[in-house]
Amino acid sequence: MLGTDLMTAAREKGHAVLGLDQPAIDIGDYNNIWRHIPPCDWIINCAAYTNVDRAETHPAEAFSVNSEGALNVALVALRKKVRLLHISTDYVFDGHRRRPYSEKIHPNPINVYGASKLAGEKNIRGSGCSYIIVRTQSLFGLHGHNFVKAILNQISKGERELKVVMDQISSPTYTAHLAQGLLKLLEAPDRQILHLSATGSCSWYDFARAIVEEVHANAQVIPIPSSDIRRHAKRPAFSVLDNRTCEALTGYTMPTWEQGLREYLKGEKLTS
Ligand SMILES: NC(=O)c1ccc[n+]([C@@H]2O[C@H](COP(=O)([O-])OP(=O)(O)OC[C@H]3O[C@@H](n4cnc5c(N)ncnc54)[C@H](OP(=O)(O)O)[C@@H]3O)[C@@H](O)[C@H]2O)c1
Repeated sequence: MLGTDLMTAAREKGHAVLGLDQPAIDIGDYNNIWRHIPPCDWIINCAAYTNVDRAETHPAEAFSVNSEGALNVALVALRKKVRLLHISTDYVFDGHRRRPYSEKIHPNPINVYGASKLAGEKNIRGSGCSYIIVRTQSLFGLHGHNFVKAILNQISKGERELKVVMDQISSPTYTAHLAQGLLKLLEAPDRQILHLSATGSCSWYDFARAIVEEVHANAQVIPIPSSDIRRHAKRPAFSVLDNRTCEALTGYTMPTWEQGLREYLKGEKLTS
């Protein structure tokens, strides 16, 4: 989802881009990555094991991609003398705060996915490569499964009552906007972890209501506590990220989640 939008944004800015995905490349295999990466300035690693609930029952698979895979990419970057921009997640935090998480706050993941992504961050930092790690969150984009698509699907099936959790707060981030922000970081000094997500925050319930309003759907959104949904993985209750370090480095303020939603819906109309 993010990788596709990032390639489009990078090409629009005049970069020469090579996009690699499974099965052509497997980041679990160092030699495979080595063979596929041509001489270049940057590797941007958007590859990850992203199924948060499945990771609880398949931790070895999650760690093999998100931790060992990240290390393999970092070691190739180091030996090819290429800088690495790696994408990580708000799920490295436990969500117990009520103020946005700056890069200085100590991570404490509460699920396997978060733990595997944090292990990946540590591996990259220890690898000796030139890296920037960007933590982001709650992505929605035109090229992948996401919350907006799930709500639109329920609406199109004629569902009139949509039950959505109201006790998880984040900043839903449109991947095309994130791609613009990431490209601005290519000029930033390396060896740092940065936070980048949409401006503003909301619960999934608020977000669902905004979707219903934007598409003028005849549906009611009903707030429910996350304890009402049986899911394998726990989610942080509050994982809003503080973007100020990125803003200071790039002079770029991310658009709001509402702007992201409107842009996304325009794109959905064009592609549907
Ligand atoms: N989605 C979110 O809400 C969110 C939030 C915070 C951070 N992030 C992070 O943002 C990044 C991009 O996420 P996304 O939502 O765009 O994810 P995505 O759509 O699931 O894309 C991840 C890609 O990685 C590929 N992949 C999985 N294992 C691989 C391997 N061993 N070798 C090579 N490629 C492999 C997947 O291929 P298959 O489809 O074939 O498995 C998929 O194309 C990830 O690092 C993710 O952890 C995402």
